[in-house]
Amino acid sequence: MLNKILVTGGSKLKGEVSISGAKNAAVAIIPATMLTRSKCVLENIPNISDVDVMLDILSEIGADVKKIDSTTISIDTSNVNYPVIPYELSKKMRASYYFLGSMIGRYLKSTVSMPGGCELGVRPIDQHIKGFESLGVEVAVNHGMIDMKTNKLIGSHIYFDVISVGATVNTMLASVYATGVTILENVAKEPHIVDLANFLNSMGANVMGAGTDVIKIHGVSELHGCNYAIIPDQIEAGTFMMAATATGGDVIIKNVIPKHLESISDKITKIGGSIEEYNDSIRVIGPNKINKLNIKTLPHPGFPTDMQPQMTALLSLAEGTSVVTEGVWDNRFRYVDELRRLGALIQVDGKVAVVEGVDTLKAAPIRATDLRAGAAMLIAALTAKGTTEIEDIEHIERGYEDIVYKLKQLGASIEIISQDPVNQILKSIPRNTPQVG
Ligand code: EPU
Repeated sequence: MLNKILVTGGSKLKGEVSISGAKNAAVAIIPATMLTRSKCVLENIPNISDVDVMLDILSEIGADVKKIDSTTISIDTSNVNYPVIPYELSKKMRASYYFLGSMIGRYLKSTVSMPGGCELGVRPIDQHIKGFESLGVEVAVNHGMIDMKTNKLIGSHIYFDVISVGATVNTMLASVYATGVTILENVAKEPHIVDLANFLNSMGANVMGAGTDVIKIHGVSELHGCNYAIIPDQIEAGTFMMAATATGGDVIIKNVIPKHLESISDKITKIGGSIEEYNDSIRVIGPNKINKLNIKTLPHPGFPTDMQPQMTALLSLAEGTSVVTEGVWDNRFRYVDELRRLGALIQVDGKVAVVEGVDTLKAAPIRATDLRAGAAMLIAALTAKGTTEIEDIEHIERGYEDIVYKLKQLGASIEIISQDPVNQILKSIPRNTPQVG
């Protein structure tokens, strides 16, 4: 793709922005619809390419996926016969491995292509396999495919050695139909884990404790369809909070759950911003000068790794030197070279970045090396002197609905440039705009 985003820095963001549904909840809940043969209606679905990929996989394997309105879809998997999810489909997205958990629940077997490598470092799936095997599943890897089968899923007590969002999701999906009780210990506690549990319970599952360290699941014999609204995206909200702070703006961020944003709000307050919390919105007022801060990312409720690049971009403008430690991924500082091109002074040693604040960043051509790195580039560019050109923006489109449009509404000088004239027109229309006629 030859699309680029052009940002001319210097505008303080002002006004209101509405947050879309949570990507990481949607990509777990969409494959979970395979656990029932009845129809599910999902509301507050974000219009992002990662969701498109998950829905494409469902359509390809024979599910009836219908768009009801711009953020609501219905999914009916009653006609899906036992499918294999081939490499061509699963390579587009790592989270396609959630079909392992939902299909073993439905068919007592599943075959999904092994996820490949990734820009964030080594991504083992040993904890997923530990979860499946504990429930009585045989797991084998043949020619790049993960083959799983069992005669019967049996409830079990599983202690995860590593806190993993993906392993927690996959084991929850596999255990809703397991006979007896399954106890999952040392699980992820992210808001999307709670959202998945709520969705499964809306289908008739019996999942308790999501959001704490221990999840208890009483197996059931059948799940039914349901209507379910996905939670707002914590990381999209956090990204706008950082953008407001970085530009010294004043933004009301609507359709959020302020409790999910506490670790982010706390850090913004520490660096000099001010936060006002309301029932389902939050106001962020950026400071005149940004204070330095030492920060370490941790699983929820710690500061999210998915906000680390955005925070590093912000701290590159702080007064003094900050230390950012990545506590989840092995390799999440690749984007730092791009920030350096804008004049940021950052040294990286393994999982630690030392960020020496500078007065201003200066525009340069840069790349979005991954999704959250792309968000960091946008934040840096919004503050930089001159016009920054950001390439490889398809990474940003994976997880941020209409971000260019939303930033423009807040007063940013930003546009998408496409080499393809038809695409150019389409890009100027927000994906979520209600269609006339
Ligand atoms: N890990 C293992 N063994 C496993 C699984 C994970 O050692 O079997 C390790 C990983 O290598 C990593 C740590 O555990 O060091 C955490 O990985 P986790 O499994 O929690 O990550 P994930 O499920 O693959 C999800 C999000 C990521 C987010 C992480 C951490 C989705 C689809 N993805 O990934 O989101 O960074 O949790 O919070 O939910 C993003 O949205 O930009 C993104 C990368």
